[in-house]
Amino acid sequence: MRKQIAAANWKMNLSVSEAETLLDQILATEHHLAANQEAIFAVPSIYISLAIQKLAGKNNVYVAAQNCYSKSNGAFTGEISAPMYASVGVKHIVLGHSERREYFGESDAFLAEKTDAVLAIGSTPIFCCGEPLSIREAGSQNSFVETQLKNSLFHLSEEQITKVVIAYEPIWAIGTGKTATSEQAQEIHAYIRSVMASKYGQSIADQISILYGGSVKAANAKEIFSQPDVDGGLVGGASLIATEFAAIINALK
Ligand code: 13P
Repeated sequence: MRKQIAAANWKMNLSVSEAETLLDQILATEHHLAANQEAIFAVPSIYISLAIQKLAGKNNVYVAAQNCYSKSNGAFTGEISAPMYASVGVKHIVLGHSERREYFGESDAFLAEKTDAVLAIGSTPIFCCGEPLSIREAGSQNSFVETQLKNSLFHLSEEQITKVVIAYEPIWAIGTGKTATSEQAQEIHAYIRSVMASKYGQSIADQISILYGGSVKAANAKEIFSQPDVDGGLVGGASLIATEFAAIINALK
């Protein structure tokens, strides 16, 4: 059975004491993770070691990075590599978030390199895709997302692709309070799975977790996650509120 995942993306938020308080608050909530479920916290890099310490010993709970560089080491001032993250205990790295594509010019080709770097050290890429509003309004979201997936993931082997988590995040729903309806989410998630099946076969496509991101909150998580091809969420704003995120974890199927 493929994994159901609630992933928090804190983005560039919180001071260290706020981060510590939020982790304490989350630990104090009632939340339950079944064997096929995971909670992942993509915190700012500077808080990763703190979060790993705080969450140590919690089953199916992981700390992720929000990005990494494509090279392992060298003269790349300010960057952090996938092997560096692995060395402090990170097992998941978010790649290609729309904010990185938009504000830092990350291309599909660059993201293909980063994906290779993450897989090379045995970590899991949480690979983001998703269309802007203009593409959705033109009805071209399927081909837009398909191109992102083909350009960055289709060079991977069958064994590698089963280690990738895909996060579909329509840009028009990120931080806007607008969510895709559960039908819209299901439709494009099913399409993403069909794209993966066309390249890797149905049984491999069925093993890939596909998360939905874009204004997921406690109030809508259950309905969105109930869709057959939605395997959880990548959550921004609501992940900064302990009770919201705990409810989102509990909405996993
Ligand atoms: P919001 O949940 O704040 O819309 O953010 C979604 C997101 O970008 C998660 O990566």
